Amino acid sequence: MKADIQQIKQRFGIIGNHVGLNRAIDVALQVAPTDLSVLITGESGVGKEVFPQIIHQNSARKHGQYIAVNCGAIPEGTIDSELFGHEKGSFTGALADRKGYFEVADGGTIFLDEAGELPLPTQARLLRVLETGEFIKVGSSKVQKTNVRIVAATNVNLVQAVADGKFREDLYYRLNTVPIQIPPLRDRAEDILLLFRKFAADCAEKYRMPAVRLDDDARQLLLSYRWPGNIRELKNVTERISVIEESREITADILRIYLPNVSVEKYPVLVKKEEEQKSFANEREILYHILFDMRKDVNDLKKLVHDIMGGNIPVEMQKNETYAPTIHPVQTIQMPVVQKAETVEEESMSLEEVEKDMIRKALERHNGKRKKAAADLKISERTLYRKIKEYNLE
Ligand SMILES: Nc1ncnc2c1ncn2[C@@H]1O[C@H](COP(=O)(O)OP(=O)(O)OP(=O)(O)O)[C@@H](O)[C@H]1O
Ligand SMILES: [Mg+2]
Repeated sequence: MKADIQQIKQRFGIIGNHVGLNRAIDVALQVAPTDLSVLITGESGVGKEVFPQIIHQNSARKHGQYIAVNCGAIPEGTIDSELFGHEKGSFTGALADRKGYFEVADGGTIFLDEAGELPLPTQARLLRVLETGEFIKVGSSKVQKTNVRIVAATNVNLVQAVADGKFREDLYYRLNTVPIQIPPLRDRAEDILLLFRKFAADCAEKYRMPAVRLDDDARQLLLSYRWPGNIRELKNVTERISVIEESREITADILRIYLPNVSVEKYPVLVKKEEEQKSFANEREILYHILFDMRKDVNDLKKLVHDIMGGNIPVEMQKNETYAPTIHPVQTIQMPVVQKAETVEEESMSLEEVEKDMIRKALERHNGKRKKAAADLKISERTLYRKIKEYNLE
């Protein structure tokens, strides 16, 4: 292994020797001195966050500002102002001029974390600043210049987001000039035990007690687990075992208690079931979206009919007409017969209630933790914030 890769690991506290990890560090070092945009991809918890710092610290910009922005956590209404600044009076509450991150980080690096969550209008502004170095504050007409290096990260599949129309293709290519992929922990068998030992040792030092150790069976179990939450999950499990278990010798039976669904992992048939469940969750999500699209279509239609008929819907339409809204993925779904305007109103109301209820329950399940509730609902944190506000669920 190259000496500089080893140095980087020491300096940034990176544990592991997997070739994919080494390659990722190597690419980060190669690209650091350039101004090229870098896109870091990998599942949640694989360790993406340290990479933009490696890049910044090994670039000529290292004395400039480094700003990390979590694009998923900033409400859609304020993200443009946060990134690009605003002028006094440009919206209610804009009491003074404000500099955005792109102005503050002039000569430095901006890390756009969860870049897949950027709203489309912000994506347009971002593309412009990436291509020309130009941006305009919210509420201003003056074009400003900045010189910022962008490193972005995402744990969602941006290619899919492009296909779904949620992410601009041109921006994707612009950000993805140099891709760095961080492999999932389950593919890094040799790193799993190293990381366990490291986290156990850290814990031992912190709480002044001997470190926990795994017996052979426990070690096998640790290696065969899928680690859906990757290193974040392994760290969490190790810390919990270290603190909760009295014995310092951890057996497979003890370890099993800390690994969710571990029995599922052992039997291939059941694993398939888990995957089916996943796709079911996706289907449910798709159906959910379809229902929302339908509600909008139905309301539009209702309004149209009202406008045309002056509120009197003809008998023919009440009888057999089925209405297939323009839903792209599922062409065969048909709406129930449009009968009276009031029925439609009732249906759309109840859907809202369902949504409200789902959100309330998810928040309860996760003790009000929005990030977790959002993940559970398979919506972005931002959407959840908006819905909470909309339904007054605070
Ligand atoms: N190679 C590693 N060595 C030691 N600790 C690591 C390593 N990789 C990740 N970690 C630790 O694991 C945790 C999760 O890493 P990180 O926050 O970088 O995940 P992420 O890829 O950004 O995930 P997400 O997409 O959910 O934001 C952090 O506490 C980090 O310090
Ligand atoms: Mg992260």
